[in-house]
Amino acid sequence: MNILVTGGAGYIGSHTCVALLEAGHTVIVADNLCNSRVEVVDKIKQLTKKEVIFYQIDVTDIAAVSTIFSNHSIDGVIHFAGLKAVGESVEKPLAYYYNNLVSTMILAEACQNYGVRRFVLSSSATVYGDNTVPFVETMNLLPTTNPYGETKAMSERILNDIAKANPAFSVSLLRYFNPVGAHESGLIGEVPNGIPNNLMPYVTQVAKRKLEKLRIFGNEYPTVDGTGVRDYIHVMDLAEGHVAALDNLTEGVHIYNLGSGNGTSVIELVKAFEEANGIEIPYEIVERRPGDIASCYADASKADRELGWSAKRDVISMCRDSWRFENNKE
Ligand code: NAD
Ligand code: UFG
Repeated sequence: MNILVTGGAGYIGSHTCVALLEAGHTVIVADNLCNSRVEVVDKIKQLTKKEVIFYQIDVTDIAAVSTIFSNHSIDGVIHFAGLKAVGESVEKPLAYYYNNLVSTMILAEACQNYGVRRFVLSSSATVYGDNTVPFVETMNLLPTTNPYGETKAMSERILNDIAKANPAFSVSLLRYFNPVGAHESGLIGEVPNGIPNNLMPYVTQVAKRKLEKLRIFGNEYPTVDGTGVRDYIHVMDLAEGHVAALDNLTEGVHIYNLGSGNGTSVIELVKAFEEANGIEIPYEIVERRPGDIASCYADASKADRELGWSAKRDVISMCRDSWRFENNKE
């Protein structure tokens, strides 16, 4: 199939392009490079030895999006393009609502105009709010604590309503848990802007001695050791989950958790990193981070049952691959 991958130069998008190309699909990337670099597209070509069609456009630009749909016979869209920094979304809510919602609506409209029936959305476990773990797709969603999370919940609702009105439209809403790791080659991975907010990139920079020590946000949560528990998923498993979602997409709206189904605490992750890479990670316990929940992990059985997909790579490989990329990146 010819797949339009918005945000394909970004972290999850680039790994998904590799998985799509390896599965025999043709990939057309649309990215404005606001949080990525064009060199990533070359790395995808280098890794797969396949062509990638690249458009440097903003997917909120309806004319630019229409040009892609008229130049190519698109079979499906995977919509990764979006702003994703939770803290920044509180400071710049309009930028987040505009970018993440307008892009979804413009792409959905282009799909309607050009008869494209397959649409896959990057959603997030954040839409579950502070539900009881494990999170199951059938749960009622609880309010999120920030505009970023709201854009994901709203994008899901918009696509639900469009699909209700257009029964031939096939939508997959993929709720990611905590993507970490990098392609096993070390050629592509996550490149956070400035000081990382997320745990794994922070840990790799402490390991690299670019940052002095990890600050663990709270150790009195009701969890195994008091630190926050998350469901870390290797980005290549996540990428393969998209291929499975696309290959199995049928009419209507389908929601899938893409997680490993296992909870790992902050301290467990630090220990796994130390074990995997033989490097000590100094840390201190500090105040809780506002908006954090104690535990977030998936019931990942629906994707296994319906898509035949489950996460294969363990936390040790996530730590090893994250570290390899940290050492390789320019
Ligand atoms: P990323 O920032 O690495 O990738 C997003 C890409 O989209 C970037 O290359 C950026 O340049 C591009 N982009 C942003 N706005 C655009 C626009 N208007 N037009 C064209 N390109 C645009 O982020 P990521 O981690 O790869 O996340 C991909 C998607 O997955 C996002 O929608 C994000 O919200 C969602 N998600 C991410 C996580 C996570 O922890 N990384 C968790 C849940 C959901
Ligand atoms: N943590 C620390 N110190 C740090 C960074 C994180 O102790 O320097 C802790 C957090 O308190 C949390 C855990 O490590 O317990 C994971 O934190 P991350 O920031 O890596 O990830 P979150 O679970 O907070 O958020 C991620 C994405 C969001 C997404 C959410 C739910 O960043 O975009 O998962 O899917 F909404």
